[in-house]
Amino acid sequence: MADKQIRLYYKNVLAEAIGPEHGITKEQLDGLAKQTSQLIPKIKDEIIGTGDKTRYGLLHNDPQIPKAVKKLVKQFKPRCENLVVLGIGGSALGNIALQSALNPFMYNLDNNQRKGPRLFVFDNVDPAQFGSFLDFISPRLGKTIFNVVSKSGQTAETASQLMIVQKLLEAKFGSARLKDHIVATTDAQKGTLRKIANEIGLPTLEVPDVVGGRFSVLSAVGLFSAAMCGINIDQLLAGARDMHARVTNPDFFKNPAAINAAIQYHFYNRGKKISVMMPYSYALYNFADWYRQLWAESLGKKFALDGREVFAGPTPVKALGATDQHSQVQLYREGPNDKVFTLIEVENHGKKVKIPAQPKSAPELAYLAKKDMGELLNAEKKATEYALCASNRPCLTVLFPKVEAFTVGQFILLFEATTSFAGALFGINTYDQPAVELGKQATFALMGKSGEFEGKSYADLALEIRSKTGVDPDFIV
Ligand code: PA5
Repeated sequence: MADKQIRLYYKNVLAEAIGPEHGITKEQLDGLAKQTSQLIPKIKDEIIGTGDKTRYGLLHNDPQIPKAVKKLVKQFKPRCENLVVLGIGGSALGNIALQSALNPFMYNLDNNQRKGPRLFVFDNVDPAQFGSFLDFISPRLGKTIFNVVSKSGQTAETASQLMIVQKLLEAKFGSARLKDHIVATTDAQKGTLRKIANEIGLPTLEVPDVVGGRFSVLSAVGLFSAAMCGINIDQLLAGARDMHARVTNPDFFKNPAAINAAIQYHFYNRGKKISVMMPYSYALYNFADWYRQLWAESLGKKFALDGREVFAGPTPVKALGATDQHSQVQLYREGPNDKVFTLIEVENHGKKVKIPAQPKSAPELAYLAKKDMGELLNAEKKATEYALCASNRPCLTVLFPKVEAFTVGQFILLFEATTSFAGALFGINTYDQPAVELGKQATFALMGKSGEFEGKSYADLALEIRSKTGVDPDFIV
């Protein structure tokens, strides 16, 4: 199994690689090991514990989850040409990331490369985007399934999309057939979406109560669209199980999540508050986006658990190798030394694309001739790593033997667990997102919802918002 495991390489964050001013010294690493080791039992409980300690809901261990997903896949896949996921944040980013990691780049456009329906994920309420999609999908509704995903069931963006789609389907097929075209993924008992699903008899999948949106990709939230599109969800979950054994290892130096989090925490406290994830694999680019949400929503917190104001939170940034070498690396090497880099390297890209012999007129291109494109991409990764180190910039690498369901499952658990360790080191609540709430409530107020928020009626809140955000002509140029 070891040759199928992803690895974390951390030598290039150490003082011996990037110098004592910026790199971690042996003493500092030992200090981090001591501090982080104490947290391992707590994080172990969160990852594989039960009862109220767990925050992962044992998603990767519960056979009922893939069973329920596969049952619906069997029912819907044979008559599905287009699968449309409606969701936002943690109810969409994992779906997008899984699809681009584990299906071919041209999946939607090339029928020969598709093992399932075309997949569209809508995580916005942009009328230009959604309207154009509705023009495309309206004549194709007969073979289209909508998977509406919302844990809370009351997110405005997802609710509005559902209302539009429901109306379209009703107009075309009548309300009795909504259940043939919509699958709802939501809380088992509560929330508006659960109510709607019960009312119109939609088939449903559950999001476990204890699991937050951004930790839910291995639940039905991510698994249904993945399985519909031919991704091996058993291998994905097996990969997560393989990693859970590693990220719960009591030995800090054998625990990649503990080391990863400790390194990020160390640099944050020394002015490197930006964490760049840069896959050298287009397939993994959307996982950098998934990580961005996981890291930002989990760690960006005003208060520590003990009530102190801390304003914690490294800023996650996504970049793509080699593309961003021609866009960002100038800044990364010569701009402020305020970043820690996580490069992702893939040994076997799954496809070979050979570069032919150089044109006669250009002997200077001989170095590329007859090489595989993957060799060039991996050389560029090494080159950037080398260049970053030469500028004393700390650099981690996640090594993938190959991007496949088993290794992607490992990656998901590695970064979820890294986030849990980082949250514990920062001493904050990793699993809430109180600051998202005000924007949500303000939207309700502006859209005319009835009711109140924190003792103020939505109508009064709307007036207050309008007075603060109305355009003052003195300041417009
Ligand atoms: O991670 C989170 O909790 C959020 O990003 C949610 O996933 C997002 O706000 C969508 O929420 P819901 O699934 O309740 O519609």
